[in-house]
Amino acid sequence: MDQNSIEYFITGIPKAELHLHIEGTFEPELMFEIANRNKLTIKYQSVDELKAAYQFNNLQEFLDIYYSGADVLIEEQDFYDLTWAYLLKIHAQNVLHTELFFDPQTHSSRDVAFSKVISGIHRALEDGREKLGISSRLILSILRHLSEKSAFEALQEALEFKEWITAVGLDSSEKGHPPSKFERVFAQARKEDFLTVAHAGEEGPPEYVWEALNLLQVSRIDHGNRSLEDPGLVVELVKRRMPLTVCPLSNLKLKVIQDMTNHPLARMLEKGMIATVNSDDPAYFGGYMNENYLAVAKALNLSKEQIAQLAKNSFEASFLGEKEKQEMVEKVERFYQEHKN
Ligand code: ADE
Ligand code: ZN
Repeated sequence: MDQNSIEYFITGIPKAELHLHIEGTFEPELMFEIANRNKLTIKYQSVDELKAAYQFNNLQEFLDIYYSGADVLIEEQDFYDLTWAYLLKIHAQNVLHTELFFDPQTHSSRDVAFSKVISGIHRALEDGREKLGISSRLILSILRHLSEKSAFEALQEALEFKEWITAVGLDSSEKGHPPSKFERVFAQARKEDFLTVAHAGEEGPPEYVWEALNLLQVSRIDHGNRSLEDPGLVVELVKRRMPLTVCPLSNLKLKVIQDMTNHPLARMLEKGMIATVNSDDPAYFGGYMNENYLAVAKALNLSKEQIAQLAKNSFEASFLGEKEKQEMVEKVERFYQEHKN
């Protein structure tokens, strides 16, 4: 690879991932392997047939396939293998820190115990730290298409594993399920000392971003693309230095944008918003971290300075301690200085 190329720069720069659904890293090959050992069938005949089904017109079409893929995850080892495979991928991409979502209700609805899900994920994250040097945080994500009651049950189950979980998030079908639906759940989560984040402004309107800020008191907005439609909201997000975890290939595959050259990331940076680049559900959207950086950098003609800014933002917006953040940002700056020309 040409050492002056943007590919080389993106590959090598240290970075953090802040928006990643572990169930969205389920590669078709591993899905078939786990289905076989659990003696379950997948409704597609082959890996190629399954991959061919990954064409989505909107978020809901994706979610339907994503939830049916997760149906073959049963044992603690399944969750370990899923998480370990993801960690190996990002290790090869110079991702030094990751904060990942898991959706316990996707599994509890199939009678897979919360303890199995979180133990498998946690064990892999511990191995990731010891063997790969990747630090991590875990975010329990509430499925917003389900009831408040179901959300409270998931939160209750989490309490036993509190030391393994940093934050509570909100995902799944956005339209018609505003953050206000979960105001009381998130108040309880904060009372239990969890940080909070929420998907907002992916398909939903800017009002949902306001609700996430004011009612759920989030530390980050996941996606947040549609914030740009409300100039007052942009001012507020900049004033609060509120990070947005942006997912370029996801936006393209789910038709949140029609073309990567229309992606709002450059406009976000120009306005002083704390945007980061992330992969969301890489097994479904055609790329992990570096593919996301590369796709958006090429389409928007981002400079090495802007890419370094995105990588710095990823550590600043993370839930690492202040000292660790500073060390990581310095690492990015050193890489930038050594490779900027
Ligand atoms: N669950 C997994 N990926 C998601 C996304 N992009 N938006 C909402 N919920 C999700
Ligand atoms: Zn997401």
